[in-house]
Amino acid sequence: MEECVNDEHRVNDEHRVNDEHRVNDEHRVNGNDASTALFLAPNAASVQRCASCGHTLDEREDAPVCPLCGSLLEVLHARPVDAAGNVMSGAALQASFAHHCCARPAGHPSGVWRFEQIVMPAAGSAITSHPEGNTPLLARAALARFTGVDGLLIKHEGHNPTGSFKDRGMTVGVTQAVRIGASAVACASTGNTSAALASYAAQAGIPGLVFVPVGKIAMGKLAQTLAYGARTLLVRGDFDACLRLVQASSRELGIYLLNSINPWRVEGQKTIVLELLQQLGWQAPDFIVLPAGNLGNTAAFGKALREAHALGLIDRMPRLVSVQAAGAAPFAKSFREGFATRYTVSAETIATAIRIGDPASWDRGVRAIRETNGLVLSCTDDEIIEAKVAIDAAGVGCEPASAASVAGVKQLVASGVVHRGDRVVAVLTGHVLKDPGMLVELHQERTDFAQANRPIEIEPDVSAVSRVLRSMQAS
Ligand code: F0G
Repeated sequence: MEECVNDEHRVNDEHRVNDEHRVNDEHRVNGNDASTALFLAPNAASVQRCASCGHTLDEREDAPVCPLCGSLLEVLHARPVDAAGNVMSGAALQASFAHHCCARPAGHPSGVWRFEQIVMPAAGSAITSHPEGNTPLLARAALARFTGVDGLLIKHEGHNPTGSFKDRGMTVGVTQAVRIGASAVACASTGNTSAALASYAAQAGIPGLVFVPVGKIAMGKLAQTLAYGARTLLVRGDFDACLRLVQASSRELGIYLLNSINPWRVEGQKTIVLELLQQLGWQAPDFIVLPAGNLGNTAAFGKALREAHALGLIDRMPRLVSVQAAGAAPFAKSFREGFATRYTVSAETIATAIRIGDPASWDRGVRAIRETNGLVLSCTDDEIIEAKVAIDAAGVGCEPASAASVAGVKQLVASGVVHRGDRVVAVLTGHVLKDPGMLVELHQERTDFAQANRPIEIEPDVSAVSRVLRSMQAS
């Protein structure tokens, strides 16, 4: 990447310029357009920059999108330096992240905040953190067999405090809300973002408002938002309608918007990739596969990889694979046509978390796929259920949308893109208990499901237990 090649020159040059001119100066030094520079000069305050027109805003401004052109914003940080003021090499950064592993915040190792230099360097001690992250990277023989990839690794984000990867974005988003003195925070959600917002807003003591599609979010997620105390609005419409409504409401009523169009959410979610790379000793895998709906996570993964490469943390790019549900796959359709057209669809899928027809982070998603030579797939609900059943039966468990990543790996093996010996990480985004309704339906009520594990009602009597045991041993 150009950003790596020019490091030395840029850094020296930037030391001589003042803050206001730093972004422009990068332009001059790199010969790049300002809107493509990845880092600011050392010690510069982070900024929010429009990904489309390059307009730059102070890091504390609460504009949900670019005030000039309406496109999405992204956060830019200073290139990290050491105590002596020298730009840090990839190896020095790796060592610093390893040290932060147990040190930040004091007594609360967080898988997000140990990367604070490239997430939110100015956060200081005023962070709202459970902590979160530090999720496991699992190897399971059953899932290697299921997908056909011998060394398949599973990054299980369901191990976060509210049971999904959303906690990583929300710790940063709510920390920012506190920094700027927001009076209330809000989001539209298919359920996981709202659960995370509700939890972190409660911790910060800020009122939370969530907009969810009535009848279309999984029981565990609805229960969480109610329990954590967010005001929960059941909107008569789909997720896309909820998102339009929360955007209009936040504009008119001055509520801080915490959907993944918020660039600070993206900063937090980058740490899924940073943490998995750290767990792999910074040896990039061949593929990273994730489920995709609104494309916030696809955008975050792309930004993390782009920055990790530019900083020298990794020396090659993994290919990013975003997997949509076939009934909610406008991005996959567009990918097949070289992203020539932006589509919207009326979404329907059993994977309610990704039941999204008009993904908000579209352009960011396209950039992530293009820059990583990535792929976008769609999997049918049957493929998703098949993968979920395999994940659950391996004792790992996940919510339906999460299984799209494992279904995607299996599909890529079948089509010859991924080979048995490739290094593949599939991300499971949410916990098995998020959607108990689907599991009860599958195992208790559906008569056509061969692997159903029906509960057996018995008299309180050992002979009844003995009969069950005999039938288990016979099968
Ligand atoms: N997996 C799960 C479990 C999710 O909850 C989501 C998104 C995704 C994958 C897709 O991520 O939208 O960034 O492409 N859930 C959002 C929510 C929409 O409101 O909880 P994405």
